Amino acid sequence: MDALEIVDNSLHIEDTASDDSAYHAADSAALLPRLSIFGLGYVGAVSVACFGDLGHRVVGVDIDAAKVDRINAGISPMVELDVPKLLRRGVAMGRVSATIDVRNALHETDISFICVGTPSATDGSCDLRYLQSACENIGAALATKEGYHVLVFRSTIPPGTTRNLLLPIIAKASGKEPGVDFGVAFHPEFLRESTAVADFFAPPKTVVGGIDARSIKAVADLYKDIDEDVLETSLEAAEMVKYVDNTWHALKVSFANEIGKICKVNDIDSHDVMEIFIQDTKLNLSPYYLKPGYAFGGSCLPKDVREIGHLARMAAVTTPLLDSILPSNHAQIQHAMDLITRLVPRRVSFLGLTFKAGTDDLRESPMLPLLTALAEQGVAVQVFDPHLDLKGSVRHHLAHARHSKNDGPDLATMLPEVLNQDLDAVMAHGDVVIVGHRTQDFQAAIAARREGQHVIDLVRLFDQPEDSDTYHGICW
Ligand SMILES: NC(=O)c1ccc[n+]([C@@H]2O[C@H](COP(=O)([O-])OP(=O)(O)OC[C@H]3O[C@@H](n4cnc5c(N)ncnc54)[C@H](O)[C@@H]3O)[C@@H](O)[C@H]2O)c1
Repeated sequence: MDALEIVDNSLHIEDTASDDSAYHAADSAALLPRLSIFGLGYVGAVSVACFGDLGHRVVGVDIDAAKVDRINAGISPMVELDVPKLLRRGVAMGRVSATIDVRNALHETDISFICVGTPSATDGSCDLRYLQSACENIGAALATKEGYHVLVFRSTIPPGTTRNLLLPIIAKASGKEPGVDFGVAFHPEFLRESTAVADFFAPPKTVVGGIDARSIKAVADLYKDIDEDVLETSLEAAEMVKYVDNTWHALKVSFANEIGKICKVNDIDSHDVMEIFIQDTKLNLSPYYLKPGYAFGGSCLPKDVREIGHLARMAAVTTPLLDSILPSNHAQIQHAMDLITRLVPRRVSFLGLTFKAGTDDLRESPMLPLLTALAEQGVAVQVFDPHLDLKGSVRHHLAHARHSKNDGPDLATMLPEVLNQDLDAVMAHGDVVIVGHRTQDFQAAIAARREGQHVIDLVRLFDQPEDSDTYHGICW
């Protein structure tokens, strides 16, 4: 069946004239890029309906002939608010159609969206079979197409898949050169089922990664009337962000549920608590605490996470997520230790020892386990911290530090020997320098370090990390 012949104008529907939809665009199909959309499931069908409504000529493609027939009849293949209305109208206006003919769809359009399913395989990995098969068909069709074409992947796939797996399949099947004959982009999909059409026209964000600027621009231009601030990035970051988003959403649900259970056994209304929690957009629902880096510490977070775990245990409430926080934090300390010991240092300098910059508080500083472990291994350590002074607050804070869980036993005797208030002398000491605070002084010291001196950066000292053999970022 050739979709491009199917459009049935008799489907013209009564809601077209009286429709108050804000989405309905003027008929500008001739001016806009033509789109083919592969995979007519939840993502693909919404895209067909919405881009058709924006005025594009849109051809849906699926291996499931029943879905193709439904679209061509102006019937939505699934339940989703407003999709039936937009599809009916798109088909009636001759903008929207569907086909199982890959070649025709690709040849008669300028940009292809690929939205086929990527379900979980039995081992938990992402099953890429449908996508690989779609790419083989698309590559074969591309082989005989004149002119430049843009392929835009929307299926959720592990980072690296587009560049290392899909792009080679298409290049091989088409015999064409990426970046010259065709563009490639990854454009993750963030719409929520049940409000997908409204989300399409007011997206939470629009992200496009690509092999080149031309591919990215081709996709970004499609959204110029919807979202002017398209976030442009690499293919791999665009692929990754979708997993990060969904993992974050899942984490939020599980967090709220575990808090809810603890509230319930304590006769506290969890919705009251979380209503207050979400009012805090400075620290709670905000970018704060969301930059990858080193472990948390200080006088509050470790202690209070321990206590909430204790509360749960006392009430026999199961909280596997909350229980995993301290082990995760410990793993981050171990990860830093592994980075350091891999360099087999004999002398190590610490820049910053307190749990964060701008304080003299040593309580449960995650720098302390590194210091004591290295000292115990016989490494010569020296520490510079602008807020630690032996005669003053250090003695006071050591008393607290002894009570905390992860501080080495020898800290009280060790610290006076290793603290040095001369930054230059501490910089001169180590063959490895560990940076625990993000300050301008430390940026200057690291930028001016001697040749061959290694840096372990726990704090993303520079916005753009140094690209050298002697610079080691903890998570970048
Ligand atoms: N459902 C969502 O809300 C959502 C949101 C964001 C991202 N995603 C991702 O988008 C992708 C699609 O999700 P979905 O829920 O729309 O999937 P779906 O299972 O509803 O639909 C996939 C469609 O692809 C078709 N298909 C399979 N092989 C094909 C081929 N070779 N050529 C053409 N069509 C083919 C299938 O017949 C099916 O109609 C997945 O990777 C998913 O993880 C989904």
